[in-house]
Amino acid sequence: MTPLLQVEGLEVGYETGGGVFRRGGAGVRAVAGVDLALNAGEVLALVGESGCGKTTVARALVGLLRPSAGRIRFAGRDVEALGRDDRLAWRRAVQMVFQDPFDSLNPRKTALATLAQPLRIHRIVPRAELRREAARLLDRVGLSPGAAYLNRYPHQFSGGQRQRICIARAIAVRPQVIVADEPVSALDVSIRAQILTLFQELSRDLGLATIFITHDLTVVRSLSDRVAVMYLGRIVEEGPTDAVFALPRHPYTAALLAASPIPDPVLARRLLRRPLGGDVPSPADPPGGCAFHPRCAHAAAICGTQRPVPQPQPGGGMSACHFAADAPQWARPHDRILEEVS
Ligand SMILES: Nc1ncnc2c1ncn2[C@@H]1O[C@H](COP(=O)(O)OP(=O)(O)OP(=O)(O)O)[C@@H](O)[C@H]1O
Ligand SMILES: [Mg+2]
Repeated sequence: MTPLLQVEGLEVGYETGGGVFRRGGAGVRAVAGVDLALNAGEVLALVGESGCGKTTVARALVGLLRPSAGRIRFAGRDVEALGRDDRLAWRRAVQMVFQDPFDSLNPRKTALATLAQPLRIHRIVPRAELRREAARLLDRVGLSPGAAYLNRYPHQFSGGQRQRICIARAIAVRPQVIVADEPVSALDVSIRAQILTLFQELSRDLGLATIFITHDLTVVRSLSDRVAVMYLGRIVEEGPTDAVFALPRHPYTAALLAASPIPDPVLARRLLRRPLGGDVPSPADPPGGCAFHPRCAHAAAICGTQRPVPQPQPGGGMSACHFAADAPQWARPHDRILEEVS
């Protein structure tokens, strides 16, 4: 089966001045060679510490940033080689939901105007039906009756309602993929679950494939079919969510899981956590060999000199660790940690 969206050797850099750098230019390699595949209807979580390049990958996937190297394929076709119409179709098929719903809505546009724009550009419905379609979309994302919200401006909505409008805007053009970049982290804790449920319902009902970027491993576990773990511009582990949580095959994943907050505060206090030591190195000056080796408790000499190539793993995933085969010895599966403390 051809993946719906596929990334091969993706590199994206920023000029140190701020712009996106050209091939061969100097700057920060924020994404240093990423391979990913997303199948139709699948939910893929993308995790990793701040600054590892998640947003940069997301923006390249939806065409907001131009890769400096590598390929993005949509339905098997290199998006760089698409003609004008096919390019428009790709941009329509892959929609993004951003972290901050306030920043991503125009304060001078009503909900109707916000939704009518993509509907018009992509000719989703005839002009005469724009209003009805916009109301239907608002209903679909839980703002009902939709018609009652059409003439309101962003400041007249709560944060959660604004994110619902952003989601309505994304699904307005009948996409096949949603790339959601920490879509609930700017929201009140009390409404995060509602928005997550909405994402789940939409993926299920509309058959949407989703790339879900999050720091919250509890969300990863409940929402995603597969998880990809990024470190300093590269995917270090990828695999079926259950398999990765049961036995992480990269020390970085193991450390992330061990350091992840346990929802129950009593458990969390009793849990002897081994948080990740040290800071994330700068992507402008990444360590040689395995980029994680300076912080890795299991690093050996080879880790400082040779970059590990991702290798298929028994659980059906990939790990870029020289010692992935030793994972059963060093990984503390999340389940076992929870068992020990409960
Ligand atoms: N416009 C920019 N100009 C220069 N460097 C940038 C720019 N945007 C991001 N970077 C750098 O690129 C790297 C990756 O950033 P990115 O925003 O993709 O990370 P992230 O994983 O999304 O982090 P977070 O979890 O904090 O959102 C970081 O080192 C960041 O400082
Ligand atoms: Mg980000």
